[in-house]
Amino acid sequence: MAETADLAAERAASIVRAIFIEAITSQGFCNWAVCGGNTPRTTYKLLAERSVDDSIAWDKVRFFWGDERDVPADDQQSNYRMLKETLLDHLAIDHANVYPMPADTADIDAAAREYEQQIRQLLPTGNDGIPQFDLVMLGMGADGHTASLFPNLPILDETNRLVASCYVPTMKRRRMTFTFPLINAARHVLMLITGDDKAEVVRRVFTDNDQSLPAAKVNPRHGKLTIVLDNTAARVLES
Ligand code: 6PG
Repeated sequence: MAETADLAAERAASIVRAIFIEAITSQGFCNWAVCGGNTPRTTYKLLAERSVDDSIAWDKVRFFWGDERDVPADDQQSNYRMLKETLLDHLAIDHANVYPMPADTADIDAAAREYEQQIRQLLPTGNDGIPQFDLVMLGMGADGHTASLFPNLPILDETNRLVASCYVPTMKRRRMTFTFPLINAARHVLMLITGDDKAEVVRRVFTDNDQSLPAAKVNPRHGKLTIVLDNTAARVLES
């Protein structure tokens, strides 16, 4: 647990960098699924700042998205736009290694199937035949959702599809998202959660293991789960 959101972002950036260096050293590349929302912005900006004198071969990193909203890539709500502004525009990389989620399309489910095929073609698979990301980054909403896996949606029980689409009633929008089989196949999952509004759901997920909350279903089968919280999100954990 980090004292402040900025220190949590620093911690997350250090973890991301360490995973990149290990993966690139051992296999020559790193497959990273980023998350959206506001929390990771500072982490992405820190990675951009440190890329100036970096020991990371950024051209060996492949960028994927763990979820995306059904908006154009230049929309304020776009997770692609957020990473582009905070990190990608500051890196000297070949954008052929950047794989945005094509969620802004009429047939979002067909697009999800195509994205899944792209992942299956590009990534190594584990013994269970599921592609293994070196790192899947996740946040968590105050309702316990993670990626675009929201409470009470059928997609939470998906066992075959690795990337799928869903309609989110609380947002009245469609989303494209990794499903738990793909998330939980990762070599490393990093959950970065800050803010007092998350404190109660943090306790329900990480202390009570409340399986009604999607974030409680993040449980890498063979990989490592790291949770980075700031003191406000961890507030109830300590009481
Ligand atoms: C998204 C994210 C989502 C996010 C949570 C937390 O597309 O919105 O992938 O799962 O991590 O909603 O969002 P904040 O970081 O803005 O609180």
